[in-house]
Amino acid sequence: MCGIVGYIGKKEIIPILMEGLHSLEYRGYDSSGIALHKGNSLNVIKSAGKISILEEILKKKGSHSNGKNGYTHCGIGHTRWATHGEPNDINAHPHSDTDEKIAVVHNGIIRNYQEVREKLVKAGIKFLSTTDTEVIVQLIAFHLKNSNSVLESICKSVNELDGSYALAILFKDEPQKIYGIRKESPLVIGIGEKENYIASDSATVSRFVDKIIRLGDNEIVEISLEKTIFYDLVGNKIIKNPQIVIKTKDFLDKRGYKHYLAKEINEQAEVISNLLSDYLPSAEKTVNFDFLKFDKEFLKNIDRILILACGTAWHAGLVGKYVFENTASIPTEVQLASEFLNLKPLLTKNSLVIGISQSGETADTLAAVKKALSTGAAFLGITNKPDSALADLAKDKLLISKAGTEVSVAATKTFTAQMTMLYLLAIFISEHRIPSLELGKEINMLKHELRMIPRLVDQTLTRAEYYQEQVIKYADKRDFVFIGRGINFPIALEAALKLKELSYIHASGYASGEMKHGPIAVLDPNVPVVSIIVPGETYDRVLQNSLEAKSRSAPMIAVAVDGDKKVDSVFDTVLHIPSVSEIASPFLTVIPLQFLAYYIAEHLGRDVDQPRNLAKSVTVE
Ligand code: F6R
Repeated sequence: MCGIVGYIGKKEIIPILMEGLHSLEYRGYDSSGIALHKGNSLNVIKSAGKISILEEILKKKGSHSNGKNGYTHCGIGHTRWATHGEPNDINAHPHSDTDEKIAVVHNGIIRNYQEVREKLVKAGIKFLSTTDTEVIVQLIAFHLKNSNSVLESICKSVNELDGSYALAILFKDEPQKIYGIRKESPLVIGIGEKENYIASDSATVSRFVDKIIRLGDNEIVEISLEKTIFYDLVGNKIIKNPQIVIKTKDFLDKRGYKHYLAKEINEQAEVISNLLSDYLPSAEKTVNFDFLKFDKEFLKNIDRILILACGTAWHAGLVGKYVFENTASIPTEVQLASEFLNLKPLLTKNSLVIGISQSGETADTLAAVKKALSTGAAFLGITNKPDSALADLAKDKLLISKAGTEVSVAATKTFTAQMTMLYLLAIFISEHRIPSLELGKEINMLKHELRMIPRLVDQTLTRAEYYQEQVIKYADKRDFVFIGRGINFPIALEAALKLKELSYIHASGYASGEMKHGPIAVLDPNVPVVSIIVPGETYDRVLQNSLEAKSRSAPMIAVAVDGDKKVDSVFDTVLHIPSVSEIASPFLTVIPLQFLAYYIAEHLGRDVDQPRNLAKSVTVE
């Protein structure tokens, strides 16, 4: 939530800030703005709405070229997902103090902002916005009056703030410097030749440079043209060494697809294949997670697994539960991170807590993981972001960065990547326990099935046009109900979430057995039922539950394997997938359902990559 960028160097600054903002737009798109030094003052230009609106404003002002506009080569920018205060022009970042001597951009939340605001109001300070961020900049200005340096004013201010923050700060009286500080929100410094950058993620700074330094919690950076100096919170200098980042393909390139979402759905075969090449290059070998530091005795004795996550990552966790219980025979509980905060953590030193988060920044997940870890349980994080707070928390982590940056707000390829890691982890743990002969055979079979998944996913993806033809005729329906059982129940939940967030059509996912316990009452010809029905233990029961729905005149759609004549005869529309075993089926069943959500949303003219009210990383509880 919210993206920060800053630049100091010799280049035209506005194009750099705008490129940085576009690279960070996935973090929020309610408003955007920039602050730059001009002459003896700090100039702030900001606007509600997407970055394209800010670009229009800058063009009209003729501000896109330094030559003409008199800006220096030092500035900061921000793209916002509103938490405190509605997404209007005034609440857009950067925020300034009353005397316009300081400009601040912020990612995170200040929990005690009201308390601090009251104190400042009593001291005569007038506030313009309703944001928590204005409190930060006014507080720094307040302390600056009685400080020997801007560094001292920053230190004094953050000591009074309770919350999470990544800040980039400009001071009018220090026109050749950017200050940055972070606590629990990411901030990365990019080191160049006579130019330096700051941003909320390494992907953004590595567009420009290949040397980066990740700022740690409670560290301050002072960035000038030639130097970056790091301090702790009492102003002592600290040494930090840059690391080289390998430049990845430009994730802002849509590669011919109309939307990032379509590109990302279509990348899933490659993503799974890349992860398997690294960790299970052959079904005859063991899973190569030897870099995990868990000792062998611990792996043998895990008594319970607790998975904590939100949204789509929670659905991946629910699939993981089936695999851990069936493959490794370990009781597994999957909790919504936000709910876990209200529960008593019943964990032992032999319990394994797994936190799953694409962004690695989801506040609920981080808070839940911290609570679980206070019991002394072991922890493993699964994330797509090596810079993130979750990655920092986890000594042991499974990075899915090979999936590449997911730009579209709705998670697709990171979902299948998370599932891949959970299957591999279940096999890895099983291989460290002595499984029964029968379980041993099942594990080997699962490894063979996993190795086939990229090819089967690829075959499924080639059917996109057929799925499109089949689903858009349902685009005018009022509600959708998705049903599945066993390992495909989480896929029903995921399909409903995808449809809701992309198309704004109301949708619910149910365990198919639950339909008759209430939800069946909502069915009528305006409410299609989508059944996930693959051969295996759940097949007959899902079919039975689907027939019950059909007799209530609901339009019937199925996701079923090729050649399933029984399903073909019962359902109005069948989204066929290649034949697959039940345990590996979620990798395939989810794909036509991702397409269903995508094509219906596109047909309805929705903003599929940036649905309303959402952001890619949710840094508030
Ligand atoms: C849905 C979606 C969200 C996220 C959820 C958790 O498409 O993207 O439901 O899955 O906000 O986000 P992460 O995985 O970043 O913790």
